[in-house]
Amino acid sequence: MTEVRVHLAGITKRFGRVVANDDVDLELRAGEVHAVVGENGAGKSTLMSVLYGSARPDAGRIVARGTDVRFDSPRDAIAAGIGMVHQHFQLFESLSVTDNVIYGAEPTRRGLLDRRRARERVGALVEEYGSPLSPTAAVGTLPMGLRQQVEIFKALYRGADVLILDEPTAVLTPAETALLFTSVRRLAAQGTAIVLVTHKLDEVMQVSDRVTVLRQGAVVASMETASTTPAALAQAMTGRDIETATNDEPAVVGSAVLEVTDLRIPAEGTRAAVHCERLEVRAGEIVGIAGVAGNGQSELVQAAVGLRPASGTVRIAGADVSRADVQGRRAAGLAYVPEDRGAVGSARSLSIRDNLVVGHYRTGWLKPAVLRRFAAELMTRHDVRGAGPDASMASLSGGNAQKVVLARELAHRAPLLVAENPTQGVDVGAIEYIHRELLAYRAAGHGVLLVSNELSELIALADRVHVMVDGRFVAAFERDELSEQHLGAAMTNAAGAAAVTAALAPPTEPAGPADPAHAADPAHAADPAGAERSAVVAAAEEEGRADGDARA
Ligand SMILES: Nc1ncnc2c1ncn2[C@@H]1O[C@H](COP(=O)(O)OP(=O)(O)OP(=O)(O)O)[C@@H](O)[C@H]1O
Ligand SMILES: [Mg+2]
Repeated sequence: MTEVRVHLAGITKRFGRVVANDDVDLELRAGEVHAVVGENGAGKSTLMSVLYGSARPDAGRIVARGTDVRFDSPRDAIAAGIGMVHQHFQLFESLSVTDNVIYGAEPTRRGLLDRRRARERVGALVEEYGSPLSPTAAVGTLPMGLRQQVEIFKALYRGADVLILDEPTAVLTPAETALLFTSVRRLAAQGTAIVLVTHKLDEVMQVSDRVTVLRQGAVVASMETASTTPAALAQAMTGRDIETATNDEPAVVGSAVLEVTDLRIPAEGTRAAVHCERLEVRAGEIVGIAGVAGNGQSELVQAAVGLRPASGTVRIAGADVSRADVQGRRAAGLAYVPEDRGAVGSARSLSIRDNLVVGHYRTGWLKPAVLRRFAAELMTRHDVRGAGPDASMASLSGGNAQKVVLARELAHRAPLLVAENPTQGVDVGAIEYIHRELLAYRAAGHGVLLVSNELSELIALADRVHVMVDGRFVAAFERDELSEQHLGAAMTNAAGAAAVTAALAPPTEPAGPADPAHAADPAHAADPAGAERSAVVAAAEEEGRADGDARA
């Protein structure tokens, strides 16, 4: 029989009147990848907090290797062999890979930090994992996929044989995701028990052995992945059938609602300079921007909405707003759903109501009853699930917080909506809903600029997609040319090469030449859209070979 590493038995956790976990049972077995899925607010993160010792259950037991344990803090969970890769990485950007991995668990010799031993142990881990990381690279220079590896090494370094991954692919490219899953399968083959929390059902099918579905805090299904389908999982999660929404109405375009011309943002730190020669969004269309995270998409958007200084001109609904601040641009016709909804899009300590009504005040509106009714209506219409309009924004699950920001911005009916990763972290039902809302916004004659890490989202919705690499548009695809292959190839060629090169030749060792086998091919880098395969893919193949050798 397979060894049960951890058994969560009858876990119940309440927040006031909300039962976040309701008598949940979850068995994590050595060598298995166990997916945990459920709608926003179903209780996944709460359950992981209980498992990782950051929340105390109100009832139930945690049994680790057959013994009852009690976790008062993550320290206790780590000591019991549990590691967690948080969705938002907890890394020191200015420190090296090694320093990040050993932080808080430094090897010492006669009371002093034993740097040599630390480097050796981290080096061995990196090698065993088949990673292209250099232990001396500064984390701030690494692309997301490699930063995530640092988080994984942190857990493995502390001896984790139960590894929690909370929505690990949200910030990864398709190639990075493929690499992660190869590593996940390898760790499982070595006996690690892995928990994968995700909203992406195709990933569940691809990488997990077993899947547990939570609904309103309770387990409603738990089975072997091979015995289910994405549609059946979505049905179990939501209690209804989910149909995907796609852009299949011909565009009826009007005048430009966003025109960006010759916009330049200087380079800063490890960030490349941005130069956008021309970007136009017309009324009645959805224009997409694709790119590996960190290639200037956020900077371009921030400059367009007035959050970041830039040269060049920006016109919104015909008005020159190049010198205007965010308020001025909003007045000209901008609505904005930012990527960082925690910091920019919402105020966590304020109520859901205040977060919904901010920016919507009109004369005579300040009556609390009116504001409350408006907020309650928006919550119902957008299916925001939480304790009610007066509860704090911080009490909402990740996906519900995103719905609040989207609900508020859509309600402006502004000519231009700029949306950055609007479905990041939301469940399958909410994705369908948000996609329909964006298509309806387009059909009503508004323009949408959609920046997304999800290629499937751009392919489903966009009339046209620009691909951004190193701060520039390197390719554009019309709706009928949109495919994962086209977009993925254009995105990863130059960016992937740069990422691998940065990891192999860290700035702390400027004299060290990059391994020629991994280095960017300058011909490809100069023609990112035209080259056939990326350095990331090449690295993946390289890793595959090394793996094969090891087994031989
Ligand atoms: N600190 C808290 N205070 C009050 N309520 C909370 C708190 N944390 C979670 N909740 C509530 O518990 C429920 C479960 O939330 P949880 O974050 O576990 O959901 P989730 O499945 O991770 O959702 P998502 O997919 O949106 O991340 C939700 O109703 C949420 O509002
Ligand atoms: Mg969550």
